[in-house]
Amino acid sequence: MPKKLFIQTHGCQMNQYDSEKIAQVLARQDYVQTDRIDSADVLLLNTCSVRDKAEQKVYSALGSWKEFKTYREGVIIGVGGCVAQQEGENLLKRIPHLDLVFGTHNIHKLPEMIEQVESGRARPVETAFYRDPAYMDDGELRTQVDGVKAFVTIMQGCNKVCSFCIVPHVRGREVSRPSEKILAEIESLARHGVKEIMLLGQNVNSYGKLTVGELSFAQLLARVDQIDGLRRIRFTTSHPQDLSPELIEAFATLGNLCEHLHLPVQSGADSVLTRMRRGYSKAEYLDRLYRLKERCPEVALSSDIIVGFPGETDAEFEATLELLRQVEYDDIYSFNYSPRPQTVSAKIYPDDVPLDVKKDRLKIVQTLQREISLAKNRQRIGGYEEVLVDGMSKLRADQVMGRSRANRIVNLTGSATMIGEFVQVRITGATANSLLGEPLCANAAISSQQEGDRP
Ligand code: SAH
Ligand code: F3S
Repeated sequence: MPKKLFIQTHGCQMNQYDSEKIAQVLARQDYVQTDRIDSADVLLLNTCSVRDKAEQKVYSALGSWKEFKTYREGVIIGVGGCVAQQEGENLLKRIPHLDLVFGTHNIHKLPEMIEQVESGRARPVETAFYRDPAYMDDGELRTQVDGVKAFVTIMQGCNKVCSFCIVPHVRGREVSRPSEKILAEIESLARHGVKEIMLLGQNVNSYGKLTVGELSFAQLLARVDQIDGLRRIRFTTSHPQDLSPELIEAFATLGNLCEHLHLPVQSGADSVLTRMRRGYSKAEYLDRLYRLKERCPEVALSSDIIVGFPGETDAEFEATLELLRQVEYDDIYSFNYSPRPQTVSAKIYPDDVPLDVKKDRLKIVQTLQREISLAKNRQRIGGYEEVLVDGMSKLRADQVMGRSRANRIVNLTGSATMIGEFVQVRITGATANSLLGEPLCANAAISSQQEGDRP
């Protein structure tokens, strides 16, 4: 009988991709994934350590998993991802019911590690980093697709030195996956019905730079744009310093590249950007954005903001608010600063903005952004959006939801038969988080099918 595998994934899309990889690697050992934790033989937690809160979630989840050791004989509990990379052996010491720890580059080692646990030989820990990208590819193309959207990792790690960020410490230095592997994977996904691809990396803009003869990121995008069957390309994340003229041009010229860019700014104060070691000033950041807007006026923008970075004064915080008013992002993700192990900011600056000040600032940022998002969404009322329907709406049983090309969530009248289809939608309403609309005609989904949308 096949064994059952339960994976819980915390954190970013990169981790979601890695979890798919874990399932793929273990499927070859006859493991079937289950979403019922109490019936699983192997329980894996794929972790995130980017902020303190994320790390705390790991310990509480693992604590609660102890009882599953009593459910079935021989249940194996393992931890992977960024906390595993960061803590290694320490996790085994801290959590006696833990059987194995695998780092961010060690998914391919899992079958061997599980075998070691089963045979009672060891509690293995694997946290080596590899510079050769071969560890990302195990020779098998992904054919198991869940829906019409898929993530594809194109690079791992980061060579930037942002002072607050643990990512380079837990994901290693930049390693780009060979473009022929990426293109083959996407072609295979497209053949199996995938319509939208999200290319993933910590800083995708620097894709290929360190590999002689490799495509640049913009060249890779141009190749992906040619793949038959694909309708949408997205990518994340981009560092502002590496937003090249070539990439800006891609937004203006590639038909399948969606008009949305996530370009984290972190702060609107030059002094804070310097302490963060981000490598650009506010003026340089804005200059890149304006160039992009010039070539692709309809591009939607989103960003990450950190409040309460060490030493952040009221005036520095105000500069961030000013930037938000100036750029008018469609969306932002905002966080309280938390010092992370091994990072420069944790080593050289005291975490001196009190928690209640951080919380107040976060609230102010989020309130301002909600107003901006609402105003921007309202501007779309009366217009038309192409929506790729993802699933049932969370709001009403007679609605489905999906994303526009600009990455807006759109709720529209419809039924489950529309899931996976592209629908033209007339926008009739807006909140800060989403748009509301009506499909152009009840048969929109059917007509797009006739155009050859589905395999
Ligand atoms: N380039 C990466 C960034 C990873 S971290 C990517 O692929 O998204 C995601 C966001 O978390 C950062 O942009 C930053 O806004 C936030 N963040 C990172 N470290 C943080 C810290 N120590 N405290 C608070 N927020 C942090
Ligand atoms: Fe982190 Fe900066 Fe890289 S935020 S992932 S070190 S670009």
